[in-house]
Amino acid sequence: MLEEVFLPSTYGSGVPYELFVRLRRDSPVCWIPEPEVGPWRSGPGFWGVFGHADVKHVLRTPSDFSSHLGATQIRDPDTPADLAFVQAMMLNTDPPEHSRLRRIVSAAFTPRAVRALEETIAARAARLFAAGECDFVEVAADLPVWTLAHVMGVPEQDRRLLYDWASRVIGYQDEEYAHRSTADDLSPLGRIAVAARPGPRPGVNPRSRAALADMFAYAHALAARAGGRDDVMAAMLAGGLTEAEFENMFFLFAVAGNETLRNGIPGGLLCLLEHPAAIELLRRRPDLLPSAVEEMLRFWPPVMDFRRTVTRDLELGGQPIRAGDKVVVYHASANRDETVFPDPDRFDITRTPNDHVSFGFGPHVCLGAHLARTQLRAVFAELMKWDVRLAGEPVRLISNFQNGLKHLPVLLKSRS
Ligand code: HEM
Repeated sequence: MLEEVFLPSTYGSGVPYELFVRLRRDSPVCWIPEPEVGPWRSGPGFWGVFGHADVKHVLRTPSDFSSHLGATQIRDPDTPADLAFVQAMMLNTDPPEHSRLRRIVSAAFTPRAVRALEETIAARAARLFAAGECDFVEVAADLPVWTLAHVMGVPEQDRRLLYDWASRVIGYQDEEYAHRSTADDLSPLGRIAVAARPGPRPGVNPRSRAALADMFAYAHALAARAGGRDDVMAAMLAGGLTEAEFENMFFLFAVAGNETLRNGIPGGLLCLLEHPAAIELLRRRPDLLPSAVEEMLRFWPPVMDFRRTVTRDLELGGQPIRAGDKVVVYHASANRDETVFPDPDRFDITRTPNDHVSFGFGPHVCLGAHLARTQLRAVFAELMKWDVRLAGEPVRLISNFQNGLKHLPVLLKSRS
């Protein structure tokens, strides 16, 4: 039964919230088996962490729970070389290395820097929707890739490449995503990427240098023309990164700044559609938009879990754990912890405080959180101008990492 927590297929039909309730009550830190899934061989298993306080403790104690030793995905990389490569990613480093890397790119993501983008993002959000039936997932996905392209200095017409790369990385658990190729009308830089695109299956693991050869070719070509600019790319180049650090930083932004919102925006809309009283309240009280966005993030955490590796023998939640064991914290469970959130299964857009952990916690807390909130607020402020109805069944992504929707058919009608 516990393998359900691990199996990607479980999440194809929904987040197992009822199971999380039982785990928080009976065994808030417990061993989860990791069986074979398709071409992926079985793993050693891991300690799942389900309570809010334990999740926060793990995330803020990198000396005991390392992001570096085994990187941060549940699945171990296939080979020692793949592990060594992804260990150069900021996400997969521990202090003090982590602090050095984070300092290089953090200026572009401060509240002040993001405030300067608010109007641009709102103007873009105002152009997203048109009356009629559409797949909301496809329509909404353009805002995060457009914003990311803007912040990274990626030419606007190449933004779909960012989308395809994120699909490839996330898609290993869901075939519909794995081989997406949606970009056309590319810039000369974009055509460099297409020429370097690997064949359908260069290996099982999409998080490897070979499987993302086109993304790295693009990153280098973009870097070569970065002179005189003032964007994240320029900061990365001025920061003295090694080649592997540079490639991995580009990789991190391409996925983290894109896939999360592509899932979070439709997820937030589905929360509203399933709670029509919340939509009515938000129309009457637009001042509730910021707390509504926080509640959407709590109720539909776009990222459901992250992995750490234990550095020494220790105890967590009364459970002895050995050095080298894998630990996986479940943000999705912590966000429904009844000891922290009164009536946790109620979607309440007035909820304050709202100490959700959807952006993580501790040194790796999401660098893009302000940018993400700005985009979510822009989209939902715009959506208040539309009548939105479900026009078909939502289809969930099969993934034990991203809480995703692949399709959300809706009918949009302007209210003005
Ligand atoms: C709703 C949208 C988003 C969610 C739910 C989200 C969630 C997260 C979480 C949980 C982490 C912590 C990882 C860990 O503990 O190991 C994280 C880290 C990160 N996120 Fe986000 N993210 C979102 C949007 C963004 C955006 C828009 C960007 C950038 C454009 C971004 C960039 C990053 C980066 C660079 C890190 C790594 C930080 C570090 O290692 O210090 N994220 N994100």
